[in-house]
Amino acid sequence: MCGIVGYVGRAEAGPILLDGLRRLEYRGYDSAGVAIVDGDHVETRKCAGRIAGLSKLMAEDPAAGTYGISHTRWATHGKPTDQNAHPHFDESGKLALVHNGVIENYAQIRETLLQESEHHFKSETDTEVLAHLVGKIYDDSAKGVTDPRRHKALLVEALRSALQQVIGTYGIAMVHADIPDFIVGARRGSPLVLGVGKDENFLASDVSAIVAYTRDAVYLNDFDLVAVERDKFEISSLAGERGNHSISKVEFTAEDIKKGDYPHYMLKEIFEQPGSVCDAMRGRLSLEECTAKLGGLNMTPAQLRDVGRIVLTGCGTALHAGMVGEYLIEQLAQVPTEVEYASEFRHRNTPMTRDTLVFAISQSGETADTLGALRESQRKGYRTLGVCNNVASTIARESDGGVYMHAGPEIGVAATKSFTSQVVILTLIGLLLGRMRHLSTAEGTCIIEALEALPEKIEQLLKTSDQIKAVAQKYVDATGMLFFGRQLNFPIALEAALKLKEITYLYAEGHPSAELKHGVIALVKPELPSVFIVPDDAVFSKNLNNIEQVRARKGPIIAVTTESGAAKLKGIADDLILVPDADDAVMPVLTVIPLQLFAYHLAVALGRDVDKPRNLAKSVTVE
Ligand code: AGP
Ligand code: GLU
Repeated sequence: MCGIVGYVGRAEAGPILLDGLRRLEYRGYDSAGVAIVDGDHVETRKCAGRIAGLSKLMAEDPAAGTYGISHTRWATHGKPTDQNAHPHFDESGKLALVHNGVIENYAQIRETLLQESEHHFKSETDTEVLAHLVGKIYDDSAKGVTDPRRHKALLVEALRSALQQVIGTYGIAMVHADIPDFIVGARRGSPLVLGVGKDENFLASDVSAIVAYTRDAVYLNDFDLVAVERDKFEISSLAGERGNHSISKVEFTAEDIKKGDYPHYMLKEIFEQPGSVCDAMRGRLSLEECTAKLGGLNMTPAQLRDVGRIVLTGCGTALHAGMVGEYLIEQLAQVPTEVEYASEFRHRNTPMTRDTLVFAISQSGETADTLGALRESQRKGYRTLGVCNNVASTIARESDGGVYMHAGPEIGVAATKSFTSQVVILTLIGLLLGRMRHLSTAEGTCIIEALEALPEKIEQLLKTSDQIKAVAQKYVDATGMLFFGRQLNFPIALEAALKLKEITYLYAEGHPSAELKHGVIALVKPELPSVFIVPDDAVFSKNLNNIEQVRARKGPIIAVTTESGAAKLKGIADDLILVPDADDAVMPVLTVIPLQLFAYHLAVALGRDVDKPRNLAKSVTVE
């Protein structure tokens, strides 16, 4: 979690750091701070709360200087207070450090430091302990050294030596008052990218923070350290070897991460789905061969044909996409498929056959649990592929191949367009594997046509946003909500419940419709509406039974259904949300969108901070 921005150049650092932090705020927003070196001392401004608070502080009391570091926090150790906000300082007060991640052995390090010399810790964070450790090592080694050029190398060495003692994860940026125009960074488990400019360089957790200034980026690997100056940078490994990284072009522009006329990123991203769904399948469908083409899997047809089992792993929304994938892949390809929470999969011994193929699904490609699952699976020798949006991410880089979503930057903390892209990609995987097994050309063609028709149907659906808003506004007094669906729409019930929880803070649960009578029905009451996801498909009449069971107990019913389903539900459901008719295989892409809108409109009606819901952060790089 959290966002880091560093700058060294000729411009005033303050506005650049603040601008970068604003773009990273989706990563964490408990508190924020900057440290800018002004002459021979470090000026710091920090406070609990949002970047807007820090901006105000900076406006009232500006900090001048042309190099500095900054941070937006998602607290792991210590409450989100002014004191705990980063940057943190060493004992001398000259070294300032920002950190993303967790120093697991901070308590031992703290103990050792206190035994060795006097240390005054001002916060409850693990980060401050690291700052003291680096500062102490640096001060000890720099004693008596007068050559300023040596100081730079000694600071890098101090960080290296400190990190060799650390157990945990980190993305780090630091400055020292005595070493002008110099920033040091490091990463392990938390992303860090170097932005290469003209006579200026940047460090950031995510390129979106710096893409307005440069599109030339160097993506650091785990265990990399980087020394950054205005006109040069030097990468080395934790072991001290020199790095040889290439500069890549960021694939999007500053324009792509603007909110435009939309009030929220989430709404913008929901409305981008006709395009993002199209981009997920662009160039990947072959009408001639009635199949999907996924060259990025890096697998020969023979290898694909020999896949005997699939494990799909991810967290949150990505896991829900995986659940849709499980149904689809088994249905289309008859390959036994399982979905595993990445956080569970990585720590348990799931029985795996030799012919198992693992997919790590992650929008950010940086989720710690999903990355852990990928590494564990690779360690055991399984081919592990990624389904990622962020092409430069760790999961994308470490996997043995995969399929990029090409959904464009997703800024809203609640995932929307990445979900539909993931579902489309998993459909393509099902189609590809299916066509190598039992699926006929006619069946393959049917799926392709259904996929190709999606963007237009989504357009149609989005036009009903105001109607969905009217339905959502009727339920502002609800105490929570239940979501139900069967088959491919069961994971949609889970995803809809997650969206509602995340952005409205209402209690919500998703269940397979039939599970209702096995316990959940005890919750049904007039203040707790039930949302049924019931296109007019083969299980419609079964769903209808469940709807009646809720109705008999005076539970309000909202149904997401197709036109023919709506006709059957007249007088039964209290509210109807219509989706266009489509093949069952692609229906989840259509049923989830009105529920994203429903959660969005209800959250707005309740006055929630839709793009930055409380306690959450977009990219979860801690366990
Ligand atoms: C979705 O709305 C959530 N914010 C969250 O569940 C998210 O999907 C999860 O953390 C996984 O993220 P990833 O796709 O970047 O790995
Ligand atoms: N562990 C650190 C803290 O709690 C860093 C958290 C973060 O990544 O924002 O301050």
